[in-house]
Amino acid sequence: MDAIEIIRAKRDGGELTTAQIDWVIDAYTRGEVADEQMSALAMAILLNGMDRREIASWTQAMIRSGERMDWSALDRPTADKHSTGGVGDKITLPLAPLVAACGAYVPQLSGRGLGHTGGTLDKLESIPGWRASLSNDEMLDVLRTAGAVVCAAGSGLAPADKKLYALRDVTGTVESIPLIASSIMSKKIAEGTGSLVLDVKVGSGAFMKTPETARELAETMVALGTDAGVRTVALMTAMDRPLGRAVGNALEVAESVEVLAGGGPADVVELTVRLAREMLEAAGVSAAKDPAKALEDGSAMDAWRRMVSAQGGDPDALLPRAAETMTVEAPSSGMLTRLDAYAVGLAAWRLGAGRARKEDPVSFGAGVVLHAKPGDLVREGQPLLTLHADETARFGRALEALEGGYAVGTARAEQLPLVIDRI
Ligand code: URA
Repeated sequence: MDAIEIIRAKRDGGELTTAQIDWVIDAYTRGEVADEQMSALAMAILLNGMDRREIASWTQAMIRSGERMDWSALDRPTADKHSTGGVGDKITLPLAPLVAACGAYVPQLSGRGLGHTGGTLDKLESIPGWRASLSNDEMLDVLRTAGAVVCAAGSGLAPADKKLYALRDVTGTVESIPLIASSIMSKKIAEGTGSLVLDVKVGSGAFMKTPETARELAETMVALGTDAGVRTVALMTAMDRPLGRAVGNALEVAESVEVLAGGGPADVVELTVRLAREMLEAAGVSAAKDPAKALEDGSAMDAWRRMVSAQGGDPDALLPRAAETMTVEAPSSGMLTRLDAYAVGLAAWRLGAGRARKEDPVSFGAGVVLHAKPGDLVREGQPLLTLHADETARFGRALEALEGGYAVGTARAEQLPLVIDRI
């Protein structure tokens, strides 16, 4: 077989055979298919798509490129959640210990932020001492101690995806449903979880801007998980406005701790509890303690403290704070009718919370705090947002990002329901 024949077949709108897919993924992982050939194939897939059989074969081939983790030594079922990413999406932080407190193990491999969306590992690394890189044995130890572990994927897990994702990132080939679905699901299936809840975000701050494309992605991923023997469900949830009131690494950790202490913003609590119920049901432990109760009685907080400590972090340490702040005030009195997720995410990124290239550092203290959410009444001059940054020089470009990103008026705030659908 050769790469050119496979590229031509997809370029001309043909279907790839499973043998062709197996060969090209294996040869690419070994370096026999060159980056320029793989990027041509990725572009042909982006333009001409893949059918369900091709996507399943592509996913399986990426899983086989590396190791498959196994949690069968544990005495309770495993459940995981994956979010397609958004602005202020800190849900993993309260959710993983919450589900652990309710009776399932949560082995969660997470990522770092790129662009305007945050990454769970960057958030947790703002806790002094906390370590993202664990060996498989260390993961098992943390799971046994705390019931939940959140860490970086080792280099042995779906190495074909690692290489391909880096290539897609620089060749304009990220935005393809077959490539996104196979990339996410190859890692989640290789991670060895028994059940998986997908949180597919919809709106300006998400990968998928419309409910139609989000539904297609969700259905494709649910089919891939189910066919691989992982009990998989997906929620489509709103990302037209930020989630919660804090956007930025340490700011989001602080908000997550509020949720674990029984407080926190209503939307973060609602989504955390809903996802926890879905995870427990998918794992077959729905008869255990109800998640809302575990937030109230402190058992989720106990699991959080065990999880952070087991990964070297100090749950009582002061979190980093940015040196400078600036307030954005309401321009008039009325209802906040819009607060755009992408604008706030871009502002937080420019304040230093995110990175432009994989190797860039992030500022743990930088970000945006929201004092009002769409639908709230505000008075002229009242603080709407507080910007946090390590240098005042960052405020100008963050303010530019926010221009046109919010509106105060008299009309009702038009927004997506928090949970749009379940698939
Ligand atoms: N996240 C992934 O892991 N892969 C993609 O292709 C997109 C988002």
